[in-house]
Amino acid sequence: MTSKATREEIEARTQERGLTKLGQPPESTIRYVVAVMSGKGGVGKSSVSALLASEIARAGYQVGILDADITGPSIPRLFGLSGTPPVVGSYFLPEKSKLGVRVMSVGFFLEHQDDPVIWRGPLIGGAIKQFWTDVLWGDLDYLVVDLPPGTGDAPLTVLQLLPVDAVVMVTTPQTLALNIVKKAVTMAQLLQVSVLGFIENMAYITCPGCGKRIEPFGGERVQEASSYLGVPLIGSLPMDPRISTLGDEGRIEEYRAEFLLEVAHMLERRNGNTSNETVRGHET
Ligand SMILES: Nc1ncnc2c1ncn2[C@@H]1O[C@H](COP(=O)(O)OP(=O)(O)OP(=O)(O)O)[C@@H](O)[C@H]1O
Ligand SMILES: [Mg+2]
Ligand SMILES: [Zn+2]
Repeated sequence: MTSKATREEIEARTQERGLTKLGQPPESTIRYVVAVMSGKGGVGKSSVSALLASEIARAGYQVGILDADITGPSIPRLFGLSGTPPVVGSYFLPEKSKLGVRVMSVGFFLEHQDDPVIWRGPLIGGAIKQFWTDVLWGDLDYLVVDLPPGTGDAPLTVLQLLPVDAVVMVTTPQTLALNIVKKAVTMAQLLQVSVLGFIENMAYITCPGCGKRIEPFGGERVQEASSYLGVPLIGSLPMDPRISTLGDEGRIEEYRAEFLLEVAHMLERRNGNTSNETVRGHET
C-alpha cells in the first residue's frame, strides 16, 4: 500500500468518526499520556506497557495503565490483579499493583478474565471514554495506554478520543514489515500524536551457557527502519522466557527493563523540563 493511499484512507476514517479529544478527567490530573502501539498483534505491546509502567513506578512517579484493548484485555493478568474496581461516588477506583501502578481494564468487569468481548465500534469507544471520565485516577505523572493491535478502528478511536501526548511503537525484528510499521507511524502523525520512538521487542536471545547475544533475525532491521522513518530506536528487549513466565504468573513488575524509563524522560524533555526538577514524589 502506498503512503498516499494510507493517508487518504486514515483521513477518511477520521472524518467519518468526527470525534473530539477529551480534556482532563474530572477530579484527576494526568500530566503525560503515552500510548503503546504496534502495526501488528502479538509483538509484546501489553508486556511493554506493563514493564514501562513498572519502571516509572519504581522511579517514584505516580503512574497508571489504561487497558484500551477492550476486546482482548491482558493487563490485569500480567499484574495478577482480579476483582471488581470499587465505586466511589460516581467513579470507579483503579486497582493497584504491588508497585502502586493504577490499573483500569475491561478485564475487571468480565465474569471470567478470558471471556470473549464481542462489542462493536461504538461500544468500544464508549468504554474507552468511560475509562477516562469515570475513573478516579487521582494525580498521575504518567498514564500508559495499552492499545489494541494494528491500525484499525479501535486504536484510531483511542488516539482520537484521548489526549495522548505521544506513542511508542513496539515492533519485533521478525514481524518487521516496513509498510505496516509505516502505516502505524502515519496514523499517529495524521492524528497529530508524535511518535517518541520504537521499542524493539524479542530483539535477541542471551545464551544461557556463555551469556553471548544471539540475534536470530539479524541485529540491524529495526535500526534500519528507525533511520528510514526518522523515528528513534529507544531500546531493545531480549526474547526472554522470564517475561512470559512472570507475565503468566502475574508478576511482570519483577522484571527489570530500566531503559524504558527513558520514555518518561523523553516526554519531560519534550515539554521543556529537565528530568529531575519536575518530578513529584520522586525518591532521590
Ligand atoms: N521479550 C519477550 N520475551 C519472551 N516472551 C515475550 C516477550 N514479549 C512478549 N512475550 C510473550 O509474547 C506473548 C504476547 O505478548 P503481549 O501480550 O505483550 O503482546 P501484545 O502485542 O500485547 O498482543 P496483542 O496484540 O494480542 O495485544 C505473551 O505470551 C508474552 O508473554
Ligand atoms: Mg496486548
Ligand atoms: Zn553460548
